Amino acid sequence: MKRYTFFATCAPGIEPILHGEIRAAGFSKSERQVGGVRFEGTMRDAWKANLWLRTAVRVLRRESRFEAAAEGELDRGVAGVDWSRFLRPDGTLWIDAQAKESVLDHTQFLAQRVKDGIVDQVRAADGTRPAVDRESADVRVHLHLYRDRATLSVDTSGASLHRRGWRTAQGRAPLAENLAAAVVLQSGWDRRSPLIDPFCGTGTLLIEGAMIAANAAPGLTRKRFGFETWADHDPAGWEAARREAESQVKIPRKLRLVGSEESANRVLEAEAHLAGHPFISELSEWASFERRAAEDFAPRPGWNGMVVSNMPYGERVGENVEPLHETFGERLRTLSGYSVSLLTGSSHLAGLLRLSNAARTRVLNGGIECQLVTAQIP
Ligand SMILES: C[S@@+](CC[C@H](N)C(=O)[O-])C[C@H]1O[C@@H](n2cnc3c(N)ncnc32)[C@H](O)[C@@H]1O
Repeated sequence: MKRYTFFATCAPGIEPILHGEIRAAGFSKSERQVGGVRFEGTMRDAWKANLWLRTAVRVLRRESRFEAAAEGELDRGVAGVDWSRFLRPDGTLWIDAQAKESVLDHTQFLAQRVKDGIVDQVRAADGTRPAVDRESADVRVHLHLYRDRATLSVDTSGASLHRRGWRTAQGRAPLAENLAAAVVLQSGWDRRSPLIDPFCGTGTLLIEGAMIAANAAPGLTRKRFGFETWADHDPAGWEAARREAESQVKIPRKLRLVGSEESANRVLEAEAHLAGHPFISELSEWASFERRAAEDFAPRPGWNGMVVSNMPYGERVGENVEPLHETFGERLRTLSGYSVSLLTGSSHLAGLLRLSNAARTRVLNGGIECQLVTAQIP
């Protein structure tokens, strides 16, 4: 099988966690970069990456690299790729363009130019013209220009990989599934001890945690990946890869999932998300969700559980979440033997928890500079 260079993108700050996943999956020649991790492999590896990488946003396959300090160079570079492997004349297309420190830096113009080049090439065959579709294009192409060097890639994922397919309720500001997975992976959780979220919202962290414990690939519940609508897609090979991942799900015999939250609606949504999950709903037997203020958080002593949470940022006007962080931190400090992995809205809020020996990682969550705090309570 032909080998390619891939680039798995992720939220800034998550690169080391994604790199850990890529190494654990056994992909070759992986290298951490800003905004993602590069690796090499076949299309089979791309299927596997899309199915299994929990913290990635998308997986791009590199098609071509060339100098493009002028429009003519860009046009020649675009013409040098055989787009008929991806795009049918009656298919749809979308281009994402990024440019940094380059002569050509008007990204809208660049996207248009790349689109024209691809459409012209595909149309030349029989006169039918591919159309543009922002939301659900058959083929998404990425142009990345850095210091006049262009990289053209095709997006093997399509819509962002955080769209797993299990979510039916949005709640208020749900945590993206790939960031939730990062919070759990960073925690060092043993996949057996109780997993507890006292600000559980729609249950994202507990569900991602349960999928990790059940070895359920996050892509199993997705409806569609980018490569599925490419002209040269191999449906039989892909179906076999999907089934292989499906056969690896192993529901743990016993796994306590404990969610609480101040909103009764969120509690119902979290419950429904777990109960409705096609692969891990059996774990509902071990799960409890209840309406409870985090100020009253008092898990069982001796459980030595893992507390994972995405704390409120105070995004509502006039809302002050500082006292909540102080009180919650006080609660946590009494939980000897427990571990925590908490995504907080700022380094200031993280500090208010006053957890000794905490490790902190800066993570960009939808443009907000958050802090991921991990600690063991002595
Ligand atoms: C940032 S959201 C968490 C979102 C969640 N991770 C998800 O994906 O849906 C914070 C959640 O904490 C809840 N909350 C806010 N203040 C609370 C408190 N004092 N006690 C318990 N829950 C609280 C909110 O209702 C909200 O659902």
